[in-house]
Amino acid sequence: MYSQVFLLILIVILTVPPQVKLIMSANTTEWITRLFEDPDLLRMGHCQRPEDLNLGMGWLYYAVARLVRPETVVVIGSWRGFAPLIYARALADNVEDGKVIFIDPSLVDDFWKAPQQVRDHFARFDITNVEHYLMTTQEFVETDGYRSLGEVGIVFIDGYHSEEQARFDFEAFEPLVPGSGLILMHDSIQRRSSKLYGPDRVYEYSVKDFVDQLKSREDLQVFDLPFANGLTLVRKSIEAR
Ligand SMILES: C[S@@+](CC[C@H](N)C(=O)[O-])C[C@H]1O[C@@H](n2cnc3c(N)ncnc32)[C@H](O)[C@@H]1O
Repeated sequence: MYSQVFLLILIVILTVPPQVKLIMSANTTEWITRLFEDPDLLRMGHCQRPEDLNLGMGWLYYAVARLVRPETVVVIGSWRGFAPLIYARALADNVEDGKVIFIDPSLVDDFWKAPQQVRDHFARFDITNVEHYLMTTQEFVETDGYRSLGEVGIVFIDGYHSEEQARFDFEAFEPLVPGSGLILMHDSIQRRSSKLYGPDRVYEYSVKDFVDQLKSREDLQVFDLPFANGLTLVRKSIEAR
């Protein structure tokens, strides 16, 4: 009896049309309010502002994911998940079963180390379409997860902010990004030193140096936004498609 009821519920859920699923998901204002109840999701230079529920750069992350409507978004690096949460929410709102591949080896602290805790963290915000890989990009490119990736519509690069790592992250995914896709690079417009990995491991942000090199490539369009520590949008120019 119980198994028949369960089966019936499952069939109803699986056959719900996309429009209804959209109504079922929490409305945006309520969702942002919940997001900003976690002070950690207001940090790390995305220009968030709780007073007016302003996602800052998050609007842009959301907008491009709604516009490109990718099956897969790759996010490299996040402090407490602001960017993966926004992309995942946008993909859920697209009602096309898109997912976020989130690569982060949890080098700042232990936050991303326990898989159940990671799932719970995203589930707090009704997000179930994030696949977390607890590893560096260098390690991820050696996995079946990487080898089985098809097109990646959006890549968001926010891992270790050295020129060398930015280049590695970019080159690992650039071949998978279609002409309609985008690569976004965070903390990309100025050099500065960071104590994120501890006072004894100060390092210099040098993503900008890599971005400057991209600007000399004729097959790319590269566009900086000068907010906080900057965001750069990169796409393949039409001739390169
Ligand atoms: C804390 S984020 C930088 C802050 C970021 N602006 C934000 O919004 O969260 C940097 C993340 O990159 C991760 N990371 C460091 N080296 C990496 C690598 N080689 N591959 C992937 N992720 C890396 C760290 O574990 C860390 O969580």
